[in-house]
Amino acid sequence: MQTVSAMDQSALTAKETDLTARLAEFTAQNLNLDMTRGKPCTAQLDLSLSLLSAPGRHFNAADGSDCRNYGGLDGLPEMKALFAELLDTAAEQIIVGGNSSLTLMYDALVRAKLFGVPDGDGPWTHQGNLKFLCPSPGYDRHFAITEHLGFELIPVDMTADGPDIQRIEELVAADPGIRGIWCVPKYSNPTGVTYADAIVKRLAAMPTAAPDFRIIWDNAYAEHHLTGEADALLNILPECQRAGHENRALVFASTSKMSFPGAGVAVMAASPENIADAKQHLAMQTIGPDKLNQLRHLELLPNLESVRAHMRHHAEVIKPKFDAVQRILHRELDGTGAATWTNPRGGYFVSLDTGDGCARNAVRLAAQAGVKFTAAGAPFPYGRDPRDRNIRIAPTFPTLEEIETAMQVLATCVLLAVVRQGLRAG
Ligand SMILES: Cc1ncc(COP(=O)(O)O)c(C=O)c1O
Repeated sequence: MQTVSAMDQSALTAKETDLTARLAEFTAQNLNLDMTRGKPCTAQLDLSLSLLSAPGRHFNAADGSDCRNYGGLDGLPEMKALFAELLDTAAEQIIVGGNSSLTLMYDALVRAKLFGVPDGDGPWTHQGNLKFLCPSPGYDRHFAITEHLGFELIPVDMTADGPDIQRIEELVAADPGIRGIWCVPKYSNPTGVTYADAIVKRLAAMPTAAPDFRIIWDNAYAEHHLTGEADALLNILPECQRAGHENRALVFASTSKMSFPGAGVAVMAASPENIADAKQHLAMQTIGPDKLNQLRHLELLPNLESVRAHMRHHAEVIKPKFDAVQRILHRELDGTGAATWTNPRGGYFVSLDTGDGCARNAVRLAAQAGVKFTAAGAPFPYGRDPRDRNIRIAPTFPTLEEIETAMQVLATCVLLAVVRQGLRAG
């Protein structure tokens, strides 16, 4: 098929008529499909059903302590050991949290604002206009946390290897107000990118004007592979240590997309000094986490091998959905020049870029036809995509049939938005 940009006005007009008619056919079906959020589907949740009957009457941890009672501020030793294995770090460098890694990230930044962090000069709140780097497109909830806490958000482009490291190096070297960066280093939300080793090393080693610069290393998709070949991610903690910036990275993860989101177990890993600092505040915040939930999870996922086997079952459920997205986008859009999109090897999203200035219109047209996508712009700081071209596709939750319909609608809407833009440009 001819690319849209090569079409003359009469070809564009004919194509517009065709696509409008096709969209009207979808609209007539009274669709009500939701492709917005990256949630596991029921079949994925069912993989962890045994959690609901665990731990039964076995409420003692390996050391004999009674998990029904208070205590164990930083988590059960066996849960710390599992996360240490998962994140390839020492158990002493682990704090097991509650049900949400996002809460742990939020708390880490609130502590920095209220009390300051190791290597720093007291509470960040008293240190003027603070800024945070936001590789974009990225995770909207990350950006929302730093916006909520009063940081100025600075977008940095994502590339196929990770965030634009040269730009980051320039920015952080020059501006002591820049206190950190959000990173989803593996199967990134939404691009699916795993950071290249060279980028991890440069993030760890780069000189920063702020001595207490922090990398929020959200390894949410550490074991969430879609293919038999897992991406390898360099471990940031030893890289930071080697570079003389031992306290720079705070690593986060959770079982949210292994077991039950909202009822899982979250973790933070960091340098001994950062862990000691966090624990001192945590001791004021809680008498201890939900250790029964940790016991439950240890029954389901006793070691890294079992986590990997469990995650292969997840992949069996969701891979066909990701395949359907690729199949339909290729079928409908190949040769049109109207969009490019990622084909992730893991994680929860596909990221589609259409022509500049077309994403908002495409998402609006799809919504009118009964198919909701994440608001265009959402994966960018302040919800503003400077090129208005990115659309995030979340294929895990809907059924295969729903995905097939939704992707045909999306392809039609993307094409229609691009064709209409061509007509306007005249
Ligand atoms: C990159 C990333 N981090 C964190 C979360 C949420 O994690 P949790 O449920 O542990 O708070 C998500 C959920 O979509 C995510 O995509």
